[in-house]
Amino acid sequence: MELINEESAGELLQAQTHVWNHIFNFINSMTLKCAVQLGIPDVIQKHGKPMTLSELVSALPIHPSKAQYVHRLMRILVHSGFFSQQNLNQEAYSLTQSTRLLLKDNPLSMRPLLLMLLDPVLTKPHDCLSTWFQNDEATAFSVAHERTLWEYAGQDPRLSNLFNEAMASDSILASKLVLNQCKGIFDGVDSLVDVGGGSGTMAKGIAEAFPHMDCTVFDLPRVVSDLQGSKNLKYVGGDMFEAVPAADVILLKVIFCSFHVLISSIVSLHMLTFH
Ligand SMILES: C[S@@+](CC[C@H](N)C(=O)[O-])C[C@H]1O[C@@H](n2cnc3c(N)ncnc32)[C@H](O)[C@@H]1O
Repeated sequence: MELINEESAGELLQAQTHVWNHIFNFINSMTLKCAVQLGIPDVIQKHGKPMTLSELVSALPIHPSKAQYVHRLMRILVHSGFFSQQNLNQEAYSLTQSTRLLLKDNPLSMRPLLLMLLDPVLTKPHDCLSTWFQNDEATAFSVAHERTLWEYAGQDPRLSNLFNEAMASDSILASKLVLNQCKGIFDGVDSLVDVGGGSGTMAKGIAEAFPHMDCTVFDLPRVVSDLQGSKNLKYVGGDMFEAVPAADVILLKVIFCSFHVLISSIVSLHMLTFH
């Protein structure tokens, strides 16, 4: 049997390319993580004008034997829209709007979120999806690590800090948008409890915008026990599956699905739950 005829050759090639692209999709996120870990966005920002490849190479904390590979890394990142490239005497790189959101000193930085979601502890569950479908574990995270994310974070301060910092960074942007665009939804509200509110970034923004409102951040005791409240904001530790403090409004941001579906799908859950 003839496996490839002339008509199907083009389609076959396209299908093969499609599969190749999906096999290597992870390269996009991993090269972005590499750039952030090497501080490439910050180095270019500090430079103050388009930075040539040789300037970039000499400013980066890399081993001299790896200098020759920087242009390959940058080529992928230019292709995926994280840097723009001009040709001065040699190629020179500038930041794009997306890369500015990854700068260390941008108050709206998504850097902590990127570093948390692409940490091996959080990427390993993605590798366990088919096993998760075949057994009765509640989450792909527990397939990968034999405990829940919250148990893991309770035993590993590095992950706990990474996670709390990431969620806080996400909440800065979210609280600014909510308070800017949807302030009216809080009209007539005297009390609010942010259930699973983490370190309280979202509730702090609301408490500041509405000084008459009593705000409570409710989270696991280990998350909130050392945190200081303010005039109209307090922290309460507990288990939301047992009871939550009473209030006019219960805020649940990135909560519902993350417990019951896949913690590994946290990004899409995020979009479903609040944004
Ligand atoms: C995905 S994070 C969301 C944090 C915050 N709402 C935000 O969007 O930044 C889920 C939060 O739920 C908390 N949590 C997990 N299990 C909990 C429980 N049984 N009771 C109360 N909080 C819990 C975690 O500590 C974590 O802070």
